[in-house]
Amino acid sequence: MMMTTVAPTLQPCFEGTLMAPVTYAVKGNTVHVGGVPVSELVGTYGSPLYVMDAATVRDAARAYTQTLAQQYAAPSLVVYACKANLSVGLAKLMQQEGLGLDVVSAGELHTAIKAGFPAERILFNGNNKSKAEMAMALDYGVNRFVVDNASELDRLASVAQAQGKVANILLRVAPGIECHTHEYIRTGQNDSKFGFPLEDLEPTVGRIVNEFSGVLCLKGLQGHVGSQIFEVQAYVDLANLYLGKLQSLHAQFGVVLEDLDLGGGLGMAYTTADDPPVLAEAVALMAKTVSEGCKALGLALPRLLLEPGRSLVARAGVTLYTVGSSKHLSGYPSFWAVDGGMGDNIRPALYQAQYSALVANKLNEPLAPEPVRLVGKYCESGDILLREFHAPALAEGDTVMVLGTGAYNYAMASHYNRFAKPAMVLVEDGQHGLLVARESLDDLLAQDRVPAWL
Ligand code: LLP
Repeated sequence: MMMTTVAPTLQPCFEGTLMAPVTYAVKGNTVHVGGVPVSELVGTYGSPLYVMDAATVRDAARAYTQTLAQQYAAPSLVVYACKANLSVGLAKLMQQEGLGLDVVSAGELHTAIKAGFPAERILFNGNNKSKAEMAMALDYGVNRFVVDNASELDRLASVAQAQGKVANILLRVAPGIECHTHEYIRTGQNDSKFGFPLEDLEPTVGRIVNEFSGVLCLKGLQGHVGSQIFEVQAYVDLANLYLGKLQSLHAQFGVVLEDLDLGGGLGMAYTTADDPPVLAEAVALMAKTVSEGCKALGLALPRLLLEPGRSLVARAGVTLYTVGSSKHLSGYPSFWAVDGGMGDNIRPALYQAQYSALVANKLNEPLAPEPVRLVGKYCESGDILLREFHAPALAEGDTVMVLGTGAYNYAMASHYNRFAKPAMVLVEDGQHGLLVARESLDDLLAQDRVPAWL
């Protein structure tokens, strides 16, 4: 019998994949991101640690802005849906790239203001903006409100009237387009919580024109089909539907709508099973659809707005964890616990989201025969980061790097079990600096009060 030697399988190299930051590089036995060894980052800032690679964010931003500049003959604005990941520093980076900011709360708006973000590039989304939030935005000069429903329309009109201002608005319409993404992040379908039903569009425009002129100024339509979308056809359908509406609204009310906002949602590759569209190609298709549609309908090109969140930041982010306890059972995968988990990444527990990861200090070691289950340190059985982690033999102190954590990880982080939230560091050209400092134990108590009678 002939013996064949099976070469040990090394950890997958993620260089050049759509999942790792563009600056991901292996030098010797060490992973670098943004020109910085990740071991240096953990040594300097501790663990767990969110890392954001500026070059990956800039690349993604330019895939949007440069494609639109080249392929769309009218103005356009890419507004970063900052719900994906926001801090003052990240807002500044987006501003440097010429992007706008899509905010949905007083907190996001406050961050934008502190970052000195230009008001004319801020868009206020959301389905239940309070009067205080609307007033704050009008005070700052926010240039576009996306009005989600009839209650918001009345509320914004009364706030604008009280301030003696005109609010520029886009109407969010539920386009009745269903996408194959997780049901919690689907938004385009008819029974969505978001947007005016399509059949209410004309009567609503009638109200704006007749009842609210001088207070609300209708600038355009907005739609958002959902998040983690791989089907570019959804955007083609959305654009065509809305162009038809721009035409019929013009015929019926004589209004010329300047803006067409196709929302966000383009998906990211989290594992090799994911096959998202190439950003520049998807954006070019949107530009082409709108250009050709306008030509066919005899419409002037509107300003084209897009609201990407995930596709600007997800790939740029990695989370570094340190390996701790393990538990071994016969017939089951071993559990290996890291020093973070569902508090810094709720997505696996909430959406059954899958991630790719590697052991950053063991790149040249062969994979163990069986995958392990990578879990966190939170008091929940569902606190699982990777159900099947193919890794070399693990040991306490190893550094696990989870890829694609730049969107909706820090933004959805919690204080469950009173763990302090990790720091977030930006890396660029060999430099590193904090975007968000690590919380201290006293930070956790900052809002605690003790009622006098206790
Ligand atoms: N515009 C609107 C009106 C939105 O509601 C959203 C996301 C976006 C833009 C940006 O979508 P993106 O490009 O990031 O897909 N927490 C979930 C995602 C929720 C998305 C909510 N809205 C997750 O972790 O997958």
